Amino acid sequence: MPELKILYSRQQIADRVAVLGAQITQDFAGEQVTLIGVLKGAAIFLSDLSRNIDLDATFDFISVSSYGNEKQNSGEVKLLKDVDQSMEGKNVILVEDILDTGLTLTYLTRVLSAHKPKSLRIAALLDKTTRRVQPIKAHYVGFEIPDEFVVGYGMDYAERYRNLADICVVP
Ligand code: IMP
Ligand code: MG
Repeated sequence: MPELKILYSRQQIADRVAVLGAQITQDFAGEQVTLIGVLKGAAIFLSDLSRNIDLDATFDFISVSSYGNEKQNSGEVKLLKDVDQSMEGKNVILVEDILDTGLTLTYLTRVLSAHKPKSLRIAALLDKTTRRVQPIKAHYVGFEIPDEFVVGYGMDYAERYRNLADICVVP
């Protein structure tokens, strides 16, 4: 087991997620929102973020695979599970763990736009801006991080470490 170094502690994450939730609450005041989590990495972020959003909200989940495994992302994206409910006319917020090359979210933005939502925004817990291949931006970003591989708080390395409370760097 490699030595993991804490990048953001559970308290730092909680504080930042509370700020994001307050922003979303303000931006969509008086409206409904539908949070769509990208499985599995965003599950914990969605559960914490949603509890910091003081609005009428619903959840849905979407699942994709990038054919590459572990630290590599091959760039190909495949939809494994679409949303269960209609997104038409809804304020949709795509909730993702990491915005990296941007290939996944560019693809998902295209898929969800086809559902004709009223609005479509992206909330990404982490943003590796230097890694971008597609010019996509998130409306809500937890932390901008350098090009390092991170795990914990839902994020994995070969499916492990998702249950760590802190966000850690894999050396
Ligand atoms: P993108 O299509 O390159 O933006 O890929 C984003 C996806 O790659 C994220 O949703 C993560 O699932 C995965 N990913 C990228 N960087 C990391 C990392 O440092 N740790 C764990 N997963 C990562
Ligand atoms: Mg992911």
